[in-house]
Amino acid sequence: MSLNSSPLNSDPLLADMRAEIEKNLQQSVQTAFDDGVPELRDMLRYHMGWLTGLPTGKRLRPLFVLLVCAAAGGNWRSALPAASSVELIHNFSLIHDDIQDRSELRHNQPTLWTQVGIAQAINAGDAMFTLGLKKIWDLCADFPLDTVKTCSDLLQNTCLALTRGQYLDIDFERRPMVQVEEYLDMVSGKTTSLLAACVRIGATLATDDLEVINGFSEYGRNLGMAFQIVDDYLGIWGDTALTGKSVSTDLLTRKKSYPALLGLREVPAFKSLWEQPTADESTARRMAEILKESGIHDLTIDRADEYTRQAVSSLEQVCQPSSLEIMRGLTRWLLRREA
Ligand code: IPE
Ligand code: IPE
Ligand code: MG
Ligand code: MG
Repeated sequence: MSLNSSPLNSDPLLADMRAEIEKNLQQSVQTAFDDGVPELRDMLRYHMGWLTGLPTGKRLRPLFVLLVCAAAGGNWRSALPAASSVELIHNFSLIHDDIQDRSELRHNQPTLWTQVGIAQAINAGDAMFTLGLKKIWDLCADFPLDTVKTCSDLLQNTCLALTRGQYLDIDFERRPMVQVEEYLDMVSGKTTSLLAACVRIGATLATDDLEVINGFSEYGRNLGMAFQIVDDYLGIWGDTALTGKSVSTDLLTRKKSYPALLGLREVPAFKSLWEQPTADESTARRMAEILKESGIHDLTIDRADEYTRQAVSSLEQVCQPSSLEIMRGLTRWLLRREA
């Protein structure tokens, strides 16, 4: 697995944080459902990847909460409830996203809705969402109420921004054309809002210095934009065995991903395949080839690279020297990740 060569497994601090995150997440889900309906809990456990032994999600969002907390001078262990909170919210959004995107594979396992039906998967997502919003209040054990309220408000506003982004993403599917600016606005909601919130929460739990918090937030926004553009790239040119997701769904559902937008604007052969009323796996493969031959593959990476550079530049202004190497390394690794 490609994750083995990533800092996520090789760096001892990141490995320690990931182990703590997993433990805290499992406890949160376990203790929330002791009311005689184990099937509901098991839907959440299935989605989280705890029933099959297959690799789970990367747990990047909670990792960013903890890393940034440390990088802004805080005690990362006391930020663990916030880490679980953002990961539960992320996974609520994935359960619903897989229904919305008609995606049948995630983390190399069939998506929840394909196993339990759409109606019960919606319930699982709702339960995950509520657990996530509740979990942030466990910070009260170590932080003043005002600080916790700030984090809770931020998360709730983030959920609104995320839903707005998901609305636009789905609305764009039926539109013949979408401008790059509109795409960037949509991504700033569906993906960047939560990643930026993780970073901001991590900083908020470490310091009152607004300049530092805002500097980290700027880092988080650029990181989030780069992250989604790489996700779009992997959704076309990734290796299913590594990403655990399909490489044809985005093209077959006419998702206005970044490479597709550029292709529609600049590559007539791609546009004419795209505009055919139906498409199968082999047409999707042909579309991907055409995009690659036309240089769209490289332009996509260039755009993500640009956001990554901006992220690193903001990071360098606020990060404590002892955390800079690990954070910069992780940020750059995300650009060339394979999953
Ligand atoms: C997938 O996020 C959804 C996006 C916002 C692009 P991740 O790639 O972080 O998914 P997991 O957490 O590893 O499953
Ligand atoms: C990511 O959606 C954003 C959310 C889930 C809120 P995508 O649809 O782009 O992500 P993947 O590729 O399915 O993970
Ligand atoms: Mg989606
Ligand atoms: Mg999706």
